[in-house]
Amino acid sequence: MNGTKPAVRPARPQFSSGPCAKRPGWSLENLSAACLGRSHRSRLGKARLREAIDRTRALLKVPDDYRIGIVPASDTGAVELAMWSMLGARPVDMFAWESFGAGWVTDAVKQLGLEAHIYDAPYGEISNLSAIDRAHDVVFTWNGTTSGVRVPDANWISAKRKGIVICDATSAVFAQPLDWPKLDVVTYSWQKVLGGEGAHGMLILSPRAVKRLETYTPPRPLPKLFRLTKGGKLNESIFEGATINTPSMLCVEDYLDTLKWAESIGGLETLHARADANVAMITAWVEKTPWVDFLCADPALRSNTSVCLKLVDADIIALDEASQRSFVKKMAALLEAEEAAYDIGGYRDAPPGLRIWCGATVEASDIEALGPWLDWSFEAAKASL
Ligand SMILES: Cc1ncc(COP(=O)(O)O)c(C=O)c1O
Repeated sequence: MNGTKPAVRPARPQFSSGPCAKRPGWSLENLSAACLGRSHRSRLGKARLREAIDRTRALLKVPDDYRIGIVPASDTGAVELAMWSMLGARPVDMFAWESFGAGWVTDAVKQLGLEAHIYDAPYGEISNLSAIDRAHDVVFTWNGTTSGVRVPDANWISAKRKGIVICDATSAVFAQPLDWPKLDVVTYSWQKVLGGEGAHGMLILSPRAVKRLETYTPPRPLPKLFRLTKGGKLNESIFEGATINTPSMLCVEDYLDTLKWAESIGGLETLHARADANVAMITAWVEKTPWVDFLCADPALRSNTSVCLKLVDADIIALDEASQRSFVKKMAALLEAEEAAYDIGGYRDAPPGLRIWCGATVEASDIEALGPWLDWSFEAAKASL
């Protein structure tokens, strides 16, 4: 390295892990058919919401007997809605290996006061999944966005389980194959792998989850935003597009736009392949770069969306944690000023490092162009130490 800036910049420097890059070719003009200034309960509004549900089912290959609903408050809203409405019937196994999973543990223990069995693990590693008890309910995050560690599969979940399994899949869905029969509640938001907008959550329920809702009354008040049943029966209309409260029809249109894009490029397999190709590009760069390594040592557990990297240069790891964080901030600021990469600093609760989104809306050519810029920013930040 001689401090020279690389010749090629990523065409789209958006590498944030949420909201994530819009799809290639995205334009506000593509949303001109949005049902604006009309009731979301009008025939037109409901049809758009219903279309979002139907296209989701087709693209994700969600089983026919699973319900799909659009709920408030993004992925957090969907997870908490499920936890508040369903948990307490059995003890719950909480698997958490980074900050979002840890947030669900806080919910279970401090807010809901559940009998919770907590299986955690340090950043870069995964919980002891074999500790699962088939008589318990389960909450876990399929892809830990802040550590870049994902479950390899759902084989550790029994098909004969008695409890229900709640899976926060927000940074996994559309990028990694989900094993639907093993999952009773799956949640995500639109702002991740498909580069949609925040604020709306997707809640997908298995027949077993519906049964729990219809047979169990949780010992706690439920706000209207969390109520999925009416007179002891599932409120089916929510899963046909009659949302609990008012959604943004502009965000709905944006989600539809990105679903159609996903269909047009070949569907789910292509989305998975794009994320895999992006992470392969990063891997090639990491392998030839001495100052950086994956936070997740095991390739089988490594995310293909939220790729988390640690700095392993001897001079940097000799610094205290606060100085390492400042170093990463400096790199990120240099890259932002050059419009080469935005938002690539690791999550605030994670060990100091970089996080680069590799989901399907990111182009492999941009990941390829990013490597030399990361090298440049590392050298430049080091020169200013
Ligand atoms: C695994 C995981 N869970 C939950 C959230 C919170 O999502 P939202 O802001 O959509 O509620 C995120 C956001 O990054 C996440 O990565």
